[in-house]
Amino acid sequence: MSGHLTLDGVAYPFQSGQTVLEVARENGIKIPALCYHRKTGPAGRCRVCIVEVEGQAGLPTSCNLEAKDGMVVYTNTEAVLEVRRSVVNLLLANGEHNCLSCEQNGRCELQDAAYDLGIEIPAFTIIGPEVEIDDSSEMIVNDRRKCIQCGICVAACNNVVVNEVLGMGQRGFDSRIVCDLDVPMAESTCVQCGECVQLCPVGAFIEKKAIGQGRSWELETVDTTCPYCGVGCQLTLHVDTNANRIVRVTGREVVPNDGMLCVKGRFGYEFPSSPNRLTQPLIRKNGELEPVSWEEALDFTAERIKKIVEEHGPDVFSAFGSGRTTNESNYAISKFTRAVIKTNNVDHCART
Ligand code: SF4
Ligand code: SF4
Ligand code: SF4
Ligand code: FES
Repeated sequence: MSGHLTLDGVAYPFQSGQTVLEVARENGIKIPALCYHRKTGPAGRCRVCIVEVEGQAGLPTSCNLEAKDGMVVYTNTEAVLEVRRSVVNLLLANGEHNCLSCEQNGRCELQDAAYDLGIEIPAFTIIGPEVEIDDSSEMIVNDRRKCIQCGICVAACNNVVVNEVLGMGQRGFDSRIVCDLDVPMAESTCVQCGECVQLCPVGAFIEKKAIGQGRSWELETVDTTCPYCGVGCQLTLHVDTNANRIVRVTGREVVPNDGMLCVKGRFGYEFPSSPNRLTQPLIRKNGELEPVSWEEALDFTAERIKKIVEEHGPDVFSAFGSGRTTNESNYAISKFTRAVIKTNNVDHCART
């Protein structure tokens, strides 16, 4: 059933099945929601998204409140803001949320909620148990001290990328994110896709290689296509332009990947600035690779190809294009192979 509901005095249309939070977001009305992500759905855990509904007792959570025709909702009354402040204060008190040194500073949803609610310093201090950081894996650090137990990473790992690694272990104060049957991430079945990193609203899952490499506001973003395979995942490079270096990669929530990336697309970004990258041609002379000019390399290669094809026929030749060159270069490779060498042995590294 579609209809209209009123948010802070203005009527908005909605479609059947939409929640109050979805209608609010669709219309630019800001309601903090720390345990909700479009891909993992409502969890009803954090209670930051509460609203006031006319004629309804209590303050329901908007992330799992179905919109109804004629509903009258207030998103920021004093009662709502007071409870929201208490919830955010408790989250800040429970764990180590030292924004000054946190990698997520400037892109943290808890920090944003605290800022919007005017919380300068946490109102409470909770002395909880010591919590270990899991930095065993090659690409990802799980800083459990910053976890707000929203459950998004668990839902993402199990239901979005369906790798079924993460779970919520232990009880009460000891609750924490665990991999498989509580083994270090490096020893788990984690495939390092980084979906947990991408969706964690705070700094509890972070990219290891990006630590200390630049604050989010210092990095320039460039949207591009992953060069590794034919899926063509859409991603954003976060670039330190002074050092001419990619610091981090995030997936874009568009087709074909809806933000998801594999380990190569998300973490295999060092090759453009690698010192091992070849910058000039090499020819093996007396068993050793020696740098030579492009003229010498091209003459040598042409001679060798000509001789081999003359001796053994065109089908001994095969060519591979690359996802890291332009379409025009790949077209030229295909044309050269088929029209000059006269074989169809041509392929591409980015073919699925
Ligand atoms: S990196 Fe991927 S597989 Fe590993 S825990 Fe995170 S979401 Fe699960
Ligand atoms: S690690 Fe991040 S996404 Fe997972 S429960 Fe903790 S805060 Fe939520
Ligand atoms: S290599 Fe991975 S991230 Fe890149 S396009 Fe293929 S599946 Fe997507
Ligand atoms: S976003 Fe609604 S309860 Fe967390």
